[in-house]
Amino acid sequence: MTTFETAEIVAAVERSGKVFAVNYNVRFYSAVLQMRAMVRRGDLGEIIHVNGSYMQDWLMKETDYNWRVLASESGELRAVGDIGTHWLDTVGFILGSPVTELMADLSTYHRTRKRPVGEVRTFSNEAVDGTVDCPVDTEDFASVLLEFANGARGNLAVSQVAAGRKNCIRIEIYGTKQSVWWDSQRPDELTIGRRDAANVHAWRAASGFEDAGGYTDYPAGHAEGFPDGFKMLYRSIYTSIATGKSDGLFADAAAGHEELRLCEAVLQSHRERRWVSV
Ligand SMILES: NC(=O)c1ccc[n+]([C@@H]2O[C@H](COP(=O)([O-])OP(=O)(O)OC[C@H]3O[C@@H](n4cnc5c(N)ncnc54)[C@H](O)[C@@H]3O)[C@@H](O)[C@H]2O)c1
Repeated sequence: MTTFETAEIVAAVERSGKVFAVNYNVRFYSAVLQMRAMVRRGDLGEIIHVNGSYMQDWLMKETDYNWRVLASESGELRAVGDIGTHWLDTVGFILGSPVTELMADLSTYHRTRKRPVGEVRTFSNEAVDGTVDCPVDTEDFASVLLEFANGARGNLAVSQVAAGRKNCIRIEIYGTKQSVWWDSQRPDELTIGRRDAANVHAWRAASGFEDAGGYTDYPAGHAEGFPDGFKMLYRSIYTSIATGKSDGLFADAAAGHEELRLCEAVLQSHRERRWVSV
C-alpha cells in the first residue's frame, strides 16, 4: 500500500463514522500498556532515548522462501514493513509522540533465494519438490535512527536473519528518573531500571502492573502472551462498536497511515543515504 491509499482510507473512515482498527496486537501486551501508563504519568521523567529491536530467524537460510521476499508481492519493504512497523507503532503508542525524522540503512544478505516450485506456507517446514533461483529485492535486516516529536532519540534494529531469535521484540525506554525494558519472549515480565536503587523485576497481574488491570485475564504466574494480546485488542474494538465509546487504545486508520508514512521515509532515507523528515 501507499500513503495515497491509506489517506483515502482515513478519509473514508471519517465519512462513514464507523469503527476502523488496524491489527497492531503488540499494543495489547500487559507490559506494553504498563510502560505506556508509566511514561504518560511521568514515572520515567523526561524520555532521553529508546532502544530496541524486532528479530526473527525464519528467513535466515537461502533455502528459506516466502512470498514476503518479493517486492512484487509484499511491497518494497520487507523486514521493516512486516515487523519493524509493529515496533514503531508500539513505541509511538507508549511515548505518545510520533517520529519526526529518521535515517535508515537496509541490507539484503541473501540476494538470491531458492524458491520452491510449489506454494509454501509462512513458517512452514514442509519438504519441497525442487527449487529455482530467485533474485531478492527486499531487505533481510535494517537499522533505523529515530527522532521523536518530544525530543527523544531512538535506535531500532530489525532482522529476519538473526539465528536463535524466533520472534523477539525488545523495547527499552530510558528516562531522566528511571528506565523500563521488556522482551516479548518473556511477555509477563517488566524490568524497571534504577541508578540509585536496586532494579525492580515486576510480573504481570502483580505489583508493578497495576495500570494494565482490565487488559489481563489470568492470575500472575499463568503466562499470557501473543494470543492474549489479540484477544484484548479485539475486546477493545468490539467494546467500542457495542458501546460507541473507545478506550483510545487500538490503532485507528490514522495510525495505519502513520506507519505507511514511516515506511516511505525509511525507503527514501535508505536510497538517498540521509536523514528524512516524516
Ligand atoms: N499481527 C498482525 O497483524 C499480523 C501478523 C502476521 C501476519 N499478518 C498479515 O496477515 C497476512 C497473512 O500473513 P500469513 O503469515 O498468514 O501469510 P501466509 O503466507 O501463511 O498465508 C497467506 C494465505 O493467503 C493465500 N492467498 C495468497 N494470495 C491469494 C489470493 N490472491 N486469493 C486468495 N488467497 C490468497 C495463500 O494461499 C495463503 O493461504 C499478511 O498480510 C501479513 O502481513 C499480520
